[in-house]
Amino acid sequence: MHLLILHGPNLNLLGEREPEVYGSQTLDDINDAVKQHAQSKGHDVRIYQSNHEGDLVDYLHKNRFWADGIFINPGALTHYSYVLRDAIASVQPPCVEVHLSDITEREEFRKISVIKDVCVKQIRGKGLNSYLEAIDYLSDVL
Ligand code: DQA
Repeated sequence: MHLLILHGPNLNLLGEREPEVYGSQTLDDINDAVKQHAQSKGHDVRIYQSNHEGDLVDYLHKNRFWADGIFINPGALTHYSYVLRDAIASVQPPCVEVHLSDITEREEFRKISVIKDVCVKQIRGKGLNSYLEAIDYLSDVL
């Protein structure tokens, strides 16, 4: 199975960014664990992080026929990006929405996800395990 993994704005600063909320692992730590878990299940991964909405959309478009499944932590784009929502809705592979923190237990603006409806599942509040669960979920449904 081919898995496309997208990380949105500010996730490149994981480890130093609000560690009390997002933990001390860096994005490289998370990517290493994700790759290892995916490979242990025989999957190929492509991973991309950008601080720019359009770059995420371009990468998604470019890989839409390669990917069997997608998971994305869109960062703050979760809460307002109809562009990202439309991009996810425009491609065939199922997409899982992933968050390190529990967005339903934080500020009001974070409780809204504009991509939730176009994703097959939302996994939140489990740190690195949110990502690993997304791999398990996609492995089961695909
Ligand atoms: C986040 C939650 C978002 O509200 C925030 O803007 C992020 C990270 C998470 O993983 O918990 O950048 O998606």
